Amino acid sequence: MLKNKETDISSAEMTAYWRSLYPLLSGDTLSINLASVEGIQKAKIFEEKFKYPLVGRKVSVRAGFMLQKTMEILSTGLYDSCISLGSGFSMLTYILAEELNRNNDMPIQFIDLDLPEIIEERKRRVSRLIVDKKISAYVVSTIQNVEMDIERTHITDISFKDVFRRCKRPLFIVEGLIYFLTEDCVEWLMQQTTRYDLSAVIFDYWPETGVSESLCFRNAIRAMAGFMPENVKSFWSDEAIEKLSYLFKRAENLKIKNIENEMSEKNLDTPRFIDSNTFFPVQIFVGQRL
Ligand SMILES: C[S@@+](CC[C@H](N)C(=O)[O-])C[C@H]1O[C@@H](n2cnc3c(N)ncnc32)[C@H](O)[C@@H]1O
Repeated sequence: MLKNKETDISSAEMTAYWRSLYPLLSGDTLSINLASVEGIQKAKIFEEKFKYPLVGRKVSVRAGFMLQKTMEILSTGLYDSCISLGSGFSMLTYILAEELNRNNDMPIQFIDLDLPEIIEERKRRVSRLIVDKKISAYVVSTIQNVEMDIERTHITDISFKDVFRRCKRPLFIVEGLIYFLTEDCVEWLMQQTTRYDLSAVIFDYWPETGVSESLCFRNAIRAMAGFMPENVKSFWSDEAIEKLSYLFKRAENLKIKNIENEMSEKNLDTPRFIDSNTFFPVQIFVGQRL
């Protein structure tokens, strides 16, 4: 799989490349090593075909924000686990485990979860990085891999508490995934993440208004079907986000434009997310049930 047909290259391949395109923003120089030559080629075709040269910057900014926010939340010492849903070929959990579990008497359990075929391929590619001495075999051995189709788990209604039995106070990362899930599944997923006395969730989403706000987004959404094996299935309304916010003691709803502008200024770089017609106006939600 993931080898010959252009459409078989999943979004995970392209995202792995884009994550490491601006390492100063993402803090991630590793994920690109998990992208195949075909995956990188396809990412470049995507940029041209959908006239979206800023997509790499968007993914790097998102990855950097996820890393920074996750670090901040996990550093409180309140959480026992961090579960990356739809982890693809992202090395986020590895970067976190290396940093946070180094001298930690109560190590955090890190879990990567994705479709069975992606997890299998992920394991193969991660093993190659160990052989090439780019990463530590020990850190990798502390990260659990879970093969799961979230849509199917939703239909059979198996609870997350049963899937992740040892995780009592989890932080869920849902990066680059939610729009590929059906609305029913997304609703179920949110219920699952809030069934704990203490839990947190971070996810990026496409707001309903995105299509009217951005020409680039409008054109891409119209033309994207068939380019990747995944199809876009869900958008979020302001009301749905507001309703979700009530389930958390602390909730943040941030615009990628503001995150990019702030990060760029910190790095003495020029902000590029100025005209919303040139990027996807993605938003990121952070909820903590402290
Ligand atoms: C755009 S990639 C993002 C990967 C990673 N989170 C990142 O940011 O680099 C989306 C990922 O979601 C996974 N995915 C899509 N549908 C899924 C499902 N029903 N169950 C589990 N994973 C799914 C894909 O296989 C893919 O790895």
